Formats: sequence, structure tokens, C-alpha cells
Amino acid sequence: RYRKTIIAGNWKMNKTLSETKAFADELKPLIGKPKWCEVVLCVPSVNLQAAVRLFKESRVAIGAETCHYESNGAFTGEVSAEMLKEIGVKYVIIGHSERRQYYNETDFTVNKKVHAALEAGLYPIVCVGESLEQRELGVTMDLISYQVKAALAGVPADKMRHVVIAYEPIWAIGTGKTATAEQANEVCEAIRAVIRKLYGARVARSVTIQYGGSMNAKNAQELLAQPDVDGGLIGGASLKAPDFVQIINAAN
Ligand code: G3H
Repeated sequence: RYRKTIIAGNWKMNKTLSETKAFADELKPLIGKPKWCEVVLCVPSVNLQAAVRLFKESRVAIGAETCHYESNGAFTGEVSAEMLKEIGVKYVIIGHSERRQYYNETDFTVNKKVHAALEAGLYPIVCVGESLEQRELGVTMDLISYQVKAALAGVPADKMRHVVIAYEPIWAIGTGKTATAEQANEVCEAIRAVIRKLYGARVARSVTIQYGGSMNAKNAQELLAQPDVDGGLIGGASLKAPDFVQIINAAN
């Protein structure tokens, strides 16, 4: 095994503090000891500190859903990577398509945030993915290659062991329309090829590349069995502890 499998839940704007506590109580006895699979839960920033505490004795690492690229300053409402690191957060999702669509996240800010996360000692989960229109135009691979290169611009090779890439076709997010295992693998393989060109074979082999987009308890096994799919970034199905556990078990 060259690289870690990472199953990460992305709760988006879901679950209050009391719902987070109830989820932890339900998940912890079910989860067992994942072997080589790392389990992550990315939760709303207001509940991060509680989540870190709730999952302290478990194998679940906590992630944020975004961060700012500056370490401090006049950015009302924002949270820096350093702040996340200090409270025990390990991962941070960067460039999720919802952030790109609704909050002006661009390839440029994604790149700055990747640098900020790495600088603070966090593990960025960098999201890339094409829209349905882009897929139909036949530009998926060009777009993904551009997004990956832009996100990683200036990141040195020795930092790449902290970087996770998530391939999330926008048309598959929250739609119940999962990419086929072949489609998912094809793009994850292409992402690895881009990383190989940038950093060489050794780094490319070691980078975890997840698939995200309507992954669930039913289709996880087939997706995760693909050679270049090293995990999942799971939205809807991560909100229910039994479903999330089934996905984790599919990766073990
Ligand atoms: O980050 C997670 C993705 O946006 C997937 O969401 O599993 O609800 O389709 P979904």
C-alpha cells in the first residue's frame, strides 16, 4: 500500500451541537478500529471544538469545511487555518464546488488557501470537478488538470504528503447521480498523472485521491475498489451514522 485510504464526511451546513453529540454517541460504538483507513468528519466551524472533544478517544479526525488564506486580520466572519490547527482540527476542505459557486472561491483563492493550510500544519482536502456542461463539451480532463495545477502552484514536493485531492463531479453532488466506478477512476487516474508530471512518480503514488458525489452505503464498495480511488468525500450519507459506518467498512 503506497497511500492511505481516507473516508471523510462533509456535513456542509448540517447538524446543531446537540445533533453533533447525538451522532458521536451513535457512531463511536459502531465504528470499530479502521485498519489503514483514516476516518474524518468535516463539520460547521461553530461545532469544530466540540467535535474535536467528542471524538478525542476515537479514530475519527476532525476537519473544517473552509478557512481563510490570511492568518489574521480584518476579515469579518472568517476563520484562519492557524485558529483551526490550535483547537485540534486536522483537515480542511478547500475549494468545494459549493464554495466556488456561492462564495467566490476561485482557483487563485484555492491556491492561497492550500498554502495557508499547509503553513499552519493542516491537511487540505482540495476539491476539483467539472459541471455537466463541461463534461458534455468534452473538456473534463483539461479542466481538472488546470484546477489541480492551479491549486498546487508553488507547493513544494515535501508538503505533498499532507495534500489530499477530492474529485467531485458537480453533476453528482447531492443529485443521487453517482459517477460510474469507471468514470470516477478515469478522472482520479488523470489527476494522479498530473501530479506525476509535477512531482514525479513517488509523490504521485503516495497522494490520496478521493471520489465524492452521491457516494453511499450501496455504491461505496465498487467505487472504492477502483485502483485510483483512495477514499471518499461524502455529503448526505455521512449524516447518518449507520450509512457512514457502512462506507467506512467498505474501505477496510
Ligand atoms: O463533499 C461532499 C460532496 O459534495 C458530496 O455530497 O454525497 O451529498 O452528493 P453528496
